[in-house]
Amino acid sequence: MRKLIVGNWKMNGVLTQVDEIGNIVKGAQLYDNVDCGLCLPATLIYAATQRFPAFHFGGQDCHKDVKGAHTGCVSAAMLKDVGAGLVILGHSERRADQHEKNADVHAKAIAAGEAGLHIIICVGETEAQREAGQTEDVILAQLSDSVPDTLAGSKFSIAYEPVWAIGSGKVPLIEEIATVHGAIRAHLKQRFGDAGAVVPILYGGSMNGDNAAAILGVPNVDGGLIGGASLTAEKFLPVLKAASQL
Ligand code: PGA
Repeated sequence: MRKLIVGNWKMNGVLTQVDEIGNIVKGAQLYDNVDCGLCLPATLIYAATQRFPAFHFGGQDCHKDVKGAHTGCVSAAMLKDVGAGLVILGHSERRADQHEKNADVHAKAIAAGEAGLHIIICVGETEAQREAGQTEDVILAQLSDSVPDTLAGSKFSIAYEPVWAIGSGKVPLIEEIATVHGAIRAHLKQRFGDAGAVVPILYGGSMNGDNAAAILGVPNVDGGLIGGASLTAEKFLPVLKAASQL
């Protein structure tokens, strides 16, 4: 499977940084055996897709409805309208800050699938859950309740992002990543049959140019969701380089 490396800019970036997006787009052309995308703040997507129409851009959330009286929200159809092809759903920061539940993620995923977006659904355990030995149970429950059966006909990926690894500089042991990704793969195969064998499973949480090769070499790690290290070409391109060499 080709590796899929997606940057998550979170709430970072203003129009003056579209030039830096250009540096990433240009650099990524060197690694054309890797699929690459950037999930930007909603305010930057149109500028990015206009300037770099051949590259993959996405949003970081969407509403479950197509339109309506939902002040401050953006729908999947609106993301698609400005040229996005991807959307991240159920990121742990949204689950924590916006109190998103699995059922919310499930509804949003159906909407994003209907809009034709490639959906990246995030799952991950907290530090307390890991210490209590609940990691696998938590992940499997999140998958069961956040990933709709209707995604069988859509493009989607799962991102395993341990909450305690995000932005912390801490990463799980390679064996721990292998165990969780193996459990996610087994779940996907059970639910989606042969199609579940080729759903990309991304790892996210403090991935960078130094640790990418080791993490991306783990069985069932098909790519990465990169936060801090995706904000500049200088940091992001080494991750793409590592992916291209596997
Ligand atoms: P990080 O973020 O790479 O900065 O840890 C990853 C994410 O939250 O998607």
